[in-house]
Amino acid sequence: MNTTGNFEQALDALLDVYHRQGNLVVFTGAGVSKESGIPTFRDAQTGLWANYNPEDLATREGFLKNPRMVWEWYDFRRNKVWDTQPNPGHTALANFETLFSNFTLITQNIDNLHQSAGSQQVLELHGNIFRYKCLDKNHPVSLDLLDGNAEELPPHCPVCNSYVRPDVVWFGEMLPDIILSRAFDAAAKAELMLVAGTSGVVQPAASIPATASEAGATVIEINPDMSALTPFVVNLFLQGPSGRILSDLLEALRVRIKQPVSDV
Ligand code: OAD
Repeated sequence: MNTTGNFEQALDALLDVYHRQGNLVVFTGAGVSKESGIPTFRDAQTGLWANYNPEDLATREGFLKNPRMVWEWYDFRRNKVWDTQPNPGHTALANFETLFSNFTLITQNIDNLHQSAGSQQVLELHGNIFRYKCLDKNHPVSLDLLDGNAEELPPHCPVCNSYVRPDVVWFGEMLPDIILSRAFDAAAKAELMLVAGTSGVVQPAASIPATASEAGATVIEINPDMSALTPFVVNLFLQGPSGRILSDLLEALRVRIKQPVSDV
């Protein structure tokens, strides 16, 4: 797929939406956090967890079978994310949010890096690894309020005493319906959609770019490799890492609209 002239075409599309104050929607996956050092979902599990399959851990059944192990796996991932910084791609998207008057960011990621980079409004389809709720009633739980010395892990909900779990979507679970409908609404109104860092294989999230395309939006994909979406819904494919490409697009855009390049 010819990607040489695509950068200029993508820049023209962004500029057009900027001047018309049109709807810009960005849809991200694990690839946008790769340059922050977080392995993507399809990367091999490393180290301590190399012999475990995420599909066995990130499920209600897996949690019920071995609550402590699943809790510790999320603790391991949380600590890993805690030590990472947003990369230029996250920062560029936070700047896009301030530049474009009608902007929506939808992410499949649970790592909170968009928010750490300064994005204010993030539709998190799969939850957030730094938020907790209880297993039986979805009571929101703040770990600060729990007894840190409790021996037993996972902790118990202070309201209903059921196990505390991460507030993330496990395999086989429904996505948060309000967030999901807001994401599909935004996609249906999009004039331009940037799709960055996703393999486009997990539903229902992977249908969001198709919704934008069917509504007549131009879909621009940013990824070092083609994804399941590329042949069907992508109009422009920008091949490469999103950290570099998104920051290059931001810089070029600012030059074209004559604004200083500044971080959020
Ligand atoms: P995947 O791991 O399936 O795909 C990551 C994508 O990022 C691939 O297409 C890579 O080519 C691309 N990629 C790698 N490095 C990149 C870089 N530097 N810049 C841009 N792209 C890069 O991750 P997702 O598509 O996000 O769901 O997976 C979607 C969902 O599958 C996850 O949210 C998770 C998983 O099941 C749940 O946990 C419910």
